[in-house]
Amino acid sequence: MIRPTQQTDKEVVLKFCAHTFDWGDYIGHVWDRWLLEKHARLFTATLHDKPVGIMRVSLQKPGEAWMQTARTDAQFRRKGIATALTEACLRWAVDRGVEIVRLVTDSDNHVAQKTIARLGFTKVSDFLTMECEELQTREATNSRWAKRTDLKEVMKLLKDSKVFEKSGGLYTVIFEWKSLDSDDLRSFVTDKKVIIHKNGDVIDGIVLTDEAIGDAWEELAFQTCYIDGDFQSIVDMMNFFKKYSLVQRKKKIYAFACNVPVVVEALTESGFTQEEPNTEFIHQKRI
Ligand SMILES: CC(C)(COP(=O)(O)OP(=O)(O)OC[C@H]1O[C@@H](n2cnc3c(N)ncnc32)[C@H](O)[C@@H]1OP(=O)(O)O)[C@@H](O)C(=O)NCCC(=O)NCCS
Repeated sequence: MIRPTQQTDKEVVLKFCAHTFDWGDYIGHVWDRWLLEKHARLFTATLHDKPVGIMRVSLQKPGEAWMQTARTDAQFRRKGIATALTEACLRWAVDRGVEIVRLVTDSDNHVAQKTIARLGFTKVSDFLTMECEELQTREATNSRWAKRTDLKEVMKLLKDSKVFEKSGGLYTVIFEWKSLDSDDLRSFVTDKKVIIHKNGDVIDGIVLTDEAIGDAWEELAFQTCYIDGDFQSIVDMMNFFKKYSLVQRKKKIYAFACNVPVVVEALTESGFTQEEPNTEFIHQKRI
């Protein structure tokens, strides 16, 4: 049986999620907030009235939804529970006009990848996370915050960009990916969160940034949500962002970016390191 999660499921669910990963699980931290959400639904699978699995789906923007937190009690795996929960999430999404659903797996979570492939999802991108705490840096020379008048050119850069293609047209805020369209870009620019690099008159690099990670992870940190450009432009934009972060009294930047050599090499040159060997595979399904 699949039904919306109830507050009374908490104890049983947290118990079977206690050792989901080496480090445990995050469900306990988000449980109360998730149960109150209007734009999302947490589902519970039960067997003889006992919770044995959960899964969450949330609306991101018109036509797009995000699925996460597939958890099946280890005693009841390979019985179709995640499959049934996925079907419930997809039905919920379809009823709300969703056409595309995405989710993320760690690159080494082969079981989840097999399950997801079986459910008709395909991998659309590979992102990695790098970190930098050494924010003292050289001056940026050709980078600045984008203005509204830059929007058209930035959209053109994305349209022609190989990195954007490899990103599946996506950006991420913390660990949730969505499509990057002109409306998103406009609001990033309005919020002064887009760095551009200029080579003469031409914009040849962009970095999208965000601060939500600081509150979520209780750290004095910023993140990048998307990085695009050549080696030099990315290094210069990261110099700009590091200086800005320092002025804003941040201690750290998390760089979320598509896992392509030019980006990784430029981030490494800019003092970023990859702490986890895993990268993040983003999968999607049209429904
Ligand atoms: C991933 C997970 C949710 C799958 O749950 P589940 O209820 O066992 O999945 P299902 O029974 O619906 O499996 C559907 C299909 O996925 C594949 N699959 C699932 N587990 C598998 C495994 N251990 N090895 C190989 N294939 C597997 C199979 O094709 C399976 O169909 P089959 O059993 O008929 O061959 C579960 O293993 C789990 O909770 N893992 C820990 C948390 C986690 O990693 N979540 C995903 C984070 S992205």
